[in-house]
Amino acid sequence: MPASTSFPAGFLWGAATSAYQVEGSPLADGAGPSNWHVFSHTLGRTTNGETGDVACDHYRRAAEDVEHMRALGLQAYRFSIAWSRILPAGRGRVNAKGMDFYSRLVDRLLAVEIQPLVTIHHWDLPAPLDARGGWLDPDIVPRFAEYAEAVFRGLGDRVGRWATINEPWVIMDAGYVHGVHPPAHRSLAEAARVTHHLLLAHGEAVRVYRRGWKRQIGLVVNLEPKEPASDSPADRAAAERADAYMNRHYLDPALRGHYPELLPGLFGDAWPAFPAADLDRIRQPLDFLGINYYTRSVVRDDPAAGFLRARPVPQTASPHTATGWEVHPPSLTRALCWVRERYGDLPLYVTENGAAYEEPATSPPAGIADAERVAYYRDHLRAALAAVGRGVDLRGYFAWSLLDNFEWSQGYGKRFGLLHVDFASQRRTPKASAGQYREVIRTNGASLGPPDPPVEGAGASGGSA
Ligand code: FCB
Repeated sequence: MPASTSFPAGFLWGAATSAYQVEGSPLADGAGPSNWHVFSHTLGRTTNGETGDVACDHYRRAAEDVEHMRALGLQAYRFSIAWSRILPAGRGRVNAKGMDFYSRLVDRLLAVEIQPLVTIHHWDLPAPLDARGGWLDPDIVPRFAEYAEAVFRGLGDRVGRWATINEPWVIMDAGYVHGVHPPAHRSLAEAARVTHHLLLAHGEAVRVYRRGWKRQIGLVVNLEPKEPASDSPADRAAAERADAYMNRHYLDPALRGHYPELLPGLFGDAWPAFPAADLDRIRQPLDFLGINYYTRSVVRDDPAAGFLRARPVPQTASPHTATGWEVHPPSLTRALCWVRERYGDLPLYVTENGAAYEEPATSPPAGIADAERVAYYRDHLRAALAAVGRGVDLRGYFAWSLLDNFEWSQGYGKRFGLLHVDFASQRRTPKASAGQYREVIRTNGASLGPPDPPVEGAGASGGSA
């Protein structure tokens, strides 16, 4: 296939946010508390005890924010729905006022020709469900199907693209293995069951959607190519383990109907015997796959490094973002090509990509000259284009994020926005990267120049898949 030097016609340019990170007003209009509301209000859980109580005040400023999106030239907006606005008790009665908020948002977007891509679940779970064990409780699967059906009924006539769950791996790993997200557990035995319920919930939501709606539904995963620190068999095996745990953990079941063969060995006694029929419920045909990409990881074998026995090797020569993530654009090409090689020709979207850098709380009068973020987007968009040139069916790209927002347990200090948010005044100021992105959208990527040369050894996740 000849290398493509431009993004395909109709390529969808967007930006992304999620409910708890931007909305604020978490208990307004009959909403119930979420797990993130409870967690962030618990002493010591987030940086400086910061919460999503106000966030970007998007719940009250949605009209203004859509105006900012229009000024940016966005063609699509990816946002998530707060489950606890729709079903405050986690089940039963639908809270009409909660649904109305999203219904108005969808109408506002469509009125200015911005296509919504709606994430059904981006981590904020109704607190009553969390109290019953959250993703550990098998009843979460019918509860999620009930919630998904409610949002399809409320918005399915106008929303053309749905994502079931954002980054299920993070829900499991941060919430149930490392205890840094709610419910702050640290249990490998729980993690395997949590994964299974997340996957079943995803599959059920897709089945519910197919029964009554006809547009597109997919899953969003975060991928991080794992590279062995050396060519030694031990390091290569370590990269394989890390890859199975993170990159294949959800995609193998969802797209191929089996868990990665390495996982039962890694989990040991913590790996339950899952009924084979469950895998059929999990593997549902998807209309697209969303990939969130931020960084890669280089690992070496280390028997003392937890159950994975793989230790990340800091890449001190590389640039890093304010979250400490290595900037490595070729790994975006690699991740996209790997998905195509392993899982076939599924339409893909980059549903998140972006970077946090140190910036002042108040935007200076001259604006924010975020040169590092400008370079980050330029290089990653070229890397995405390189994947297109290698035959990847990439349909769109969503910058993370539209706005500086609540970066989970790290609070407001990590600024990912194209628009700077002064949290004291709620003033939004476009950064230089917003101007760059507007131009990228206007020219369908031509303003970026040619794609990067092919990546050595691309096509495998760290050569390990
Ligand atoms: C992703 C999350 C998103 C945001 C970015 C920085 O893992 O999906 O909500 O926090 O990281």
